[in-house]
Amino acid sequence: MSRLIYILNGPNLNLLGKRQPAIYGYETLADVEKECRELAKELNLEIRFHQSNREYEIIDWIHEAREIAGGIAINPGAFTHTSVAILDALNTFDHPIIEVHLSNIHKREAFRHHSYVSPIASGVIAGFGTQGYPFALRRLAKLLDTEKK
Ligand code: DQA
Repeated sequence: MSRLIYILNGPNLNLLGKRQPAIYGYETLADVEKECRELAKELNLEIRFHQSNREYEIIDWIHEAREIAGGIAINPGAFTHTSVAILDALNTFDHPIIEVHLSNIHKREAFRHHSYVSPIASGVIAGFGTQGYPFALRRLAKLLDTEKK
């Protein structure tokens, strides 16, 4: 099983640290990437870390992951609540998917309560801020290790 993990981030997450810090915190996406890279070494994982404001780009990365990766951690941002296309792409991926949200989407506006991704995710992390990403990586490493046995 491939130990390559795709960590995908959707729209507006490039502004992490500057955007509504009361909700999303002061850490930047570069901070998150750095932490994930350090943890990946410890877990013997390779990662590809991406962010895009464009739906098609996220879909293209999922298609790429389909060929080579053993897991995906994805924070689809607002596409979580709107994108059947991202759901369809994720449905072509045969390995574990963890959905990550910085905020607790269930505590927020009603339109954020529904996720197209959750029904097909192995796990969902919401409301742990940037800590959610290392949690997702640890969980994917664990799932890869058990898949192997
Ligand atoms: C988010 C939650 C979404 O509702 C929102 O549109 C985002 C970020 C989160 O990480 O909490 O852009 O996915």
